[in-house]
Amino acid sequence: MITTRPFGTTADGTSVTCFRLENAAGAWVEVLDYGCILRAVAVPDRAGALRDVCLGFDTVAEYQENHQGYLGAMVGRCANRIRDARFTLDGREYVLAANERPNHLHGGDRGFDQYVWDHSIEGDTVVFSRTSPDGEEGYPGTLKVRVSYTLTEDNALRLVLEGESDADTVVNLTSHAYWNLNGHGAGGVGSHTLSIDAIALTELGADNCPNGTIASVVGTPFDLRTACPLEAGWDADHPQIRQGGGYDHNWVLRGSGLHRAAVLAAPESGITLSLSTTQPGLQVYTGNFLPETAGKGGARYAPRCGVAMEAQGFPNAMNLPGFPSVVLRAGERYHQEIIFAFGHN
Ligand code: BGC
Repeated sequence: MITTRPFGTTADGTSVTCFRLENAAGAWVEVLDYGCILRAVAVPDRAGALRDVCLGFDTVAEYQENHQGYLGAMVGRCANRIRDARFTLDGREYVLAANERPNHLHGGDRGFDQYVWDHSIEGDTVVFSRTSPDGEEGYPGTLKVRVSYTLTEDNALRLVLEGESDADTVVNLTSHAYWNLNGHGAGGVGSHTLSIDAIALTELGADNCPNGTIASVVGTPFDLRTACPLEAGWDADHPQIRQGGGYDHNWVLRGSGLHRAAVLAAPESGITLSLSTTQPGLQVYTGNFLPETAGKGGARYAPRCGVAMEAQGFPNAMNLPGFPSVVLRAGERYHQEIIFAFGHN
């Protein structure tokens, strides 16, 4: 069942709508047409009580003021960093907004997270769409994108990300939801355990962009093939951990097609989150630089009070030919899926 309610307006006066998706079991999700933001996900803990496990805000103004945290947002055209905010495609160099100098991050000064999208409701699915004009933030091609959210009866949230462009361009969309499986206001996520189906990660250079090296995780704090508490690794004495200020890295996923990439679990609540995706990479960001802010219902957010698991193409792929391509050719279809499946133990 999907219901809607007004969610205020943006600073320039555009109305924002909140969509509530609820299943027969009583689990529910809220998404906004502003930035396709996932603002709440309420799922049962092991005692059967619903907990909202997704960080978010109560007003559009707070999303706008805190946009650099990308809470719950759909990031695009290209998630993550592009070194020196430039790339070459079909022999031509494109210069992008350098919103994290000298790099481009999460789509630029005004990425997809900062627009009110068009919407439609198709059965149990909310569909958001927008047309990103040729040249937006420096990217070539008029790109039509569509993002849909469906809550299934077994407490899985399915995101389908689609796009089509009239010229060769770059597309790499992901959801930037932060999770705290004890409840969004429950404090640090250090005791959460995480497993990732990967034996390698893309090594970061001094500029926080992958330098092209695919490094083995074996014998490092990045080996999460067996679930480990986040706090066991995020302050480890390892040069890559120091570079990221904790976990802020892209793992090279082993599976192909729609595959299970990671499982996050909170021992206290018993809630588990299993992430499946068609994407080749998983950026895990343990909120190392989340500012001290007031979140929904006056909850206190601070560094490391949520973890983002961003299924995506590899960061800086446009400048590293050995990485899987994030180019979308004119007339071809972009199609990716991310499934956040909730359970408890
Ligand atoms: C990046 C972080 C960045 C954060 C917020 C994450 O996806 O990996 O480095 O600080 O987004 O902008």
